[in-house]
Amino acid sequence: MARDGVILATHADALAQAAARLRAGELVAFPTETVYGLGANARDPEAVARIFAAKGRPPSNPVIVHVADPNGAHAIVAEWPQTANTLAHAFWPGPLTLVLPKHPDIPAIVTAGGSTVAVRCPAHPIARELIRLAGVPVAAPSANRSGELSPTTAAHVARSLGDRVGWILDGGSCPGGIESTVVAVTPDGVKLLRPGLILETQLQEIVGDLIVTEPVSNSTKPLPSPGMLTRHYAPRTALEIVEDEAELLFLMNLYHTAGLKVACWQPKGSPVEVATGLYAELHALDAGGFDRIIAILPPNHDDWQAIRDRLTRAASPE
Ligand code: TXA
Ligand code: MG
Repeated sequence: MARDGVILATHADALAQAAARLRAGELVAFPTETVYGLGANARDPEAVARIFAAKGRPPSNPVIVHVADPNGAHAIVAEWPQTANTLAHAFWPGPLTLVLPKHPDIPAIVTAGGSTVAVRCPAHPIARELIRLAGVPVAAPSANRSGELSPTTAAHVARSLGDRVGWILDGGSCPGGIESTVVAVTPDGVKLLRPGLILETQLQEIVGDLIVTEPVSNSTKPLPSPGMLTRHYAPRTALEIVEDEAELLFLMNLYHTAGLKVACWQPKGSPVEVATGLYAELHALDAGGFDRIIAILPPNHDDWQAIRDRLTRAASPE
């Protein structure tokens, strides 16, 4: 077995060895098309407990189970309604997570004791090959300490969890840059639990109107998903959000007068382009020795929902 550390996923045998570690109950961090995940064998409750310990994750927050191909979902869930099939056909492999009644064989720790399980088939070739070689479903939250910014490079994972995870598979930067969209598939319809890379409008094109929940873009209220703690996705540097440049200039003046070192972040490009760079840019600003980061929110529009959600949570005091 190779020594611990950051391993280039392109190295011969790296994936096979990482898969063997997963089967042996160890943790492996790996790239997906959204963010890096911290993986463990979803069928092994002790292995999944290591994820919670490494992240400092509250046991009330369930984790997503990743499968190598869409058919793998059938062994994770107790029911596979037509709507789940339709969504999987439209978006898998890809950044959509489906919450469905759990299969009795899935350990309670994965679902935080709940009756539903979140399942996703990632599109990233390294993630898919790793899960395929492991031959087990892989429970994986984002590979960061609980509440912190999600990692989009192996270096981000090493900085946040380096002393707590033996193997980090380095597959370069994650192309998506923010997390998957999480939806509950219920007999009443499809409910958005966490906005993400798949836009609400894309979901509507496939399944029609979603069950209406509280709008997230201009709200700091948690969503009905246990993981949507108000403060989340946060850099260590205090982050404040503003709606426009006038507000930004006002705050910058105030802080400069007080002698504070202030960094400014603003969205540049389309929602997809901004998502790709968001965490990487915030990680870089976080390492820059600033007293404050001020972020200008993108427009209050459906397509910007996920970015506004992440920034609002990052800025939340608790
Ligand atoms: O893109 C992603 O989804 C990444 C990559 C690694 O796949 N994973 C990720 O996992 O972001 P995590 O644990 O950081 O966020 C998963 C979200 C949490 O908000 C959690 O509460 C929610 O999904 N979730 C998981 N299982 C659930 C369930 N059974 N019911 C409702 N929400 C659930
Ligand atoms: Mg996370």
